[in-house]
Amino acid sequence: MAKIYGGIGSSHIPAIGIAMDKGLEDTPYWRDFFKGYVPMRKWFHEVDPDVVIIFYNDHGLEMFLDKKPTFAIGTAAEYENADEGWGIKPIPTIQGETELSWHIVNELVEHDFDPTVCQEIKVDHGLTVPLTLMFPDKGYSKVKVIPVCINCERHPMPKLSRAYAFGQAIGRAVESYDGDQKVVVMGTGGLSHQLDGERAGIINTEFDEECLEKLVSDPEALTKYSIEDIVELAGAQGVELNMWLAMRGCLLGNVTEQYRNLVAPISNTAAGLQLLINDQRI
Ligand code: DHB
Ligand code: FE
Repeated sequence: MAKIYGGIGSSHIPAIGIAMDKGLEDTPYWRDFFKGYVPMRKWFHEVDPDVVIIFYNDHGLEMFLDKKPTFAIGTAAEYENADEGWGIKPIPTIQGETELSWHIVNELVEHDFDPTVCQEIKVDHGLTVPLTLMFPDKGYSKVKVIPVCINCERHPMPKLSRAYAFGQAIGRAVESYDGDQKVVVMGTGGLSHQLDGERAGIINTEFDEECLEKLVSDPEALTKYSIEDIVELAGAQGVELNMWLAMRGCLLGNVTEQYRNLVAPISNTAAGLQLLINDQRI
């Protein structure tokens, strides 16, 4: 049985990638943010996962407003990124996990989720920035990555309860896989932010703290919020919380929080970071 060791929630803003490219991690603006990743990386590399499942949103690189899958999953052997205009340097090819990806797809369909299956897909900053935060030297060639997209750009967006249940279905699929892989899941983006429109710049750290707390102890409570509630409370892009909920859904054991950080503002966001251990599964 493949095992999920834990879940990481992380910001994915492109400015992080640029700061890393320019070596700005220890400057006053970035110090508190990057400090949070030291214990995170320590845990990650101690676990030494074979597979990383990354929930992210495609911000328009592959799936624009004209064609927008609600849920999508990559089944490719390799993934490339592409320039989206943010100026992040290209990163080396990411290795896929075709067999486990297909197992997850089959199990999802069997259990009434019907994702778009992507045998070819380029991945954007939502995936590449958090992966680079775990591997600042970009030495991720030995981990295999499964990209999973959730629509956060075009309404209607999946309800929070659905994103959570989607994660649970993926967690069960991984645990039903006849392999001995060590798996870590990541949910990227958030927390409160809005990039354009009249409320651009809105940040609500009080609500973000509540979300971080509920992600540990009572994720079901978060699923009571509607998408409209989240837009109101956390801004239009605060809906990226759905990726954190999907990550949390994958953790089917006794979950404890090992680490948390919230730094605001970082670019336009409250940048959250959380490590959740999937206790009984180790
Ligand atoms: C920013 C935040 C995002 O979630 C994103 O996808 C792009 C940019 C930002 O705050 O700069
Ligand atoms: Fe984003």
